Amino acid sequence: MNLKGELETRISEALAEAGAPPGSGALIARSNKPQFGHYQANGCMAAAKALKINPRELARKVLDNLDLSDIAEPLEIAGPGFINIRISRQWLAQRLTEVESDPKLGIATPETPQTVVVDYSAPNLAKEMHVGHLRSTIIGDALVRVLDFIGHKVIRQNHVGDWGTQFGMLIAYMKDLLQDDPEGFQAEAELGDLEEFYRKAKQRFDADEAFADTAREEVVRLQSGDPATLDAWRGFREISLRHCSDVYRRLGVLLEDGDVYGESEFNDDLSNVVEDLRAAGILEESRGAQCVFLDEFRGKGEDDADVPLIVQKSDGGYLYATTDLAGIRYRQDQLRADRILYVTDSRQGMHFTQVFGVARLAGFARGELMLEHVPFGMMLGKDHRPFKTRTGGTIKLTDLLTEAEQRAFDLVSGKTPDVDEARRREIAAIVGIGAVKYADLSQNRGSDYVFSWDKMLSLDGNTAPYMQYAYARVKSIFRKADMDESQAVGEIVLTEAAETNLAVKLAQLPETIQAVAVECLPNLLCSYLFELAGAFMTFYEACPVLKADAPAARTSRLMLCLLTARTIKTGLGMLGIDTLEQM
Ligand code: ARG
Repeated sequence: MNLKGELETRISEALAEAGAPPGSGALIARSNKPQFGHYQANGCMAAAKALKINPRELARKVLDNLDLSDIAEPLEIAGPGFINIRISRQWLAQRLTEVESDPKLGIATPETPQTVVVDYSAPNLAKEMHVGHLRSTIIGDALVRVLDFIGHKVIRQNHVGDWGTQFGMLIAYMKDLLQDDPEGFQAEAELGDLEEFYRKAKQRFDADEAFADTAREEVVRLQSGDPATLDAWRGFREISLRHCSDVYRRLGVLLEDGDVYGESEFNDDLSNVVEDLRAAGILEESRGAQCVFLDEFRGKGEDDADVPLIVQKSDGGYLYATTDLAGIRYRQDQLRADRILYVTDSRQGMHFTQVFGVARLAGFARGELMLEHVPFGMMLGKDHRPFKTRTGGTIKLTDLLTEAEQRAFDLVSGKTPDVDEARRREIAAIVGIGAVKYADLSQNRGSDYVFSWDKMLSLDGNTAPYMQYAYARVKSIFRKADMDESQAVGEIVLTEAAETNLAVKLAQLPETIQAVAVECLPNLLCSYLFELAGAFMTFYEACPVLKADAPAARTSRLMLCLLTARTIKTGLGMLGIDTLEQM
């Protein structure tokens, strides 16, 4: 059960009964200050203003209509008209006993699960994956895991950039290499480093007119389906995708080959998209290009010009937007999506606003289809500029992951030098990759963030190593007692304040997960886990577990420990981060 949701519903009803205008939200905030209770409802403030009465007076009326005695201690009015809510121990104890035996830790499966398409990672295959793709891959993967855990049907779509003019250049370069070396050793070797391959092809393209012409011819041949050119394209695409899979495997994300559904898949449909826009009567020609003008974008350009969404260039070529329009239809009609999430950097915001707008206007997207851009900011270096290598080049993802593992290895080796090396390497991979992921996910995705090895690998603060350590520490209690976890059965009894506070945190998992799914904000889950770990540490200091006074208290506390461990493991799991039983 979603505790916050339940409180909000009940308080909204009481507000309505007290005469508040419809839609007066209950506005419940979670509170970490004991004097405010566990939750605080602020809804009376705005509603009282609308009713032109004193908020405290309204709050008193609300309390007359509100019975939360099954969930909470007697309610209190605080300050100018807030309602403080303290969750009752009985309710918590009973709730946690239910959660204990629930593999989903109290997270309810929705009555009508949605089919959610998550479009993420989606690198351009002409180049090697670089740090720019890291955020999309990590954030998208966390959203996939959260939605899946809740019980929605999730379809991953890796909308890779596998089509377009750059491929002409790459194919021309590859054919050239093969000419001098038909066995393909040279091409194979150079393709081992896609970044290099691209750079050399580009160099050649810029320096050599004849080569540039050939490259342009290759684009035409590619588009007209010339078998030899298509073969070369397939070969290149294959190799590039293999690079991606390697990164996905190392990162431990769910993306598989079967999730790749790239731009090239939509080629045959692009002319239909344009024709259907024409048939819908919304296509306009502007400077030779086929465009759709949305009302919202009239006069929004330079010198108050109307901003078009171009779907076909004057030379007949189609664009990124055309492909995305085809993609919306495919996802709605073939994949039967109820909701589509596009995880890309925020610079693509306008693109998606326009594409969604045109899809609706053209009737490509049903009214109920939820189309959401999930934007994120940039990864910055220590100098607060876009994250680059020392010489200003792009940082390859494989190099970044190798460094993460190496740094984690040094850390682990410093702490536990006696553990054998192979095991230290295993731990380092889990800690290092976890740290990179957590550092990203714990930020509000909307903002830019500074990538800092020291911070993300720190054992204190809101980091993966801290959370992994907290988990291992809880687990160590059972080891210390030489006790099997299955022995911790009995009843949860909450007497100490630290126990109650921990219990409240544990009961807040469902509302947290719900919010992550609705708002696509994994950082809410990170903050939650961090708070939970904090509540646990306080509890552990205040309440002896193995040395508890009475057997019943000992069992109850062990159960709280176990639930905490499960919640951390499950929560980190939803972020795509592994845990270690021992650190
Ligand atoms: N390939 C694009 C890029 O690297 C991202 C694609 C995102 N998905 C989409 N349907 N447009 O920027």
